Amino acid sequence: MIGRLNHVAIAVPDLEAASKTYRDVLGATVRAPQDEPDHGVTVVFVELDNTKIELLHPLGENSPIAGFLEKNKSGGIHHICYEVDDILAARDKLVSEGARILGSGEPKIGAHGKPVLFLHPKDFDGTLVELEQV
Ligand code: CO
Repeated sequence: MIGRLNHVAIAVPDLEAASKTYRDVLGATVRAPQDEPDHGVTVVFVELDNTKIELLHPLGENSPIAGFLEKNKSGGIHHICYEVDDILAARDKLVSEGARILGSGEPKIGAHGKPVLFLHPKDFDGTLVELEQV
């Protein structure tokens, strides 16, 4: 069901410092910061040949990653995103297998303008999984 790895998202306490590390130390292509008010994050996309890294920083109050950074002060991997062809079919299959979908269970439009869903980390070995329909 799952296809390519779309991105790995890393929550970072300092977006500018993290961007500089990826650009200057690791030599990656790093895009400008992008505010995503609907998701409570500012995102920096790091483009790699085979996938993307998303550097996430809290935006506004009630950011979904504020608590994560509270617990992981130096930052850390927040979620991984797999591509699927049909997000509703993927959701229905996962629910029938007993997996839990976070939130309302309905897809939201993600940072790339495509429908996304998040799966409960307890059902996937402690990893928050995002599915994106491509
Ligand atoms: Co994501």
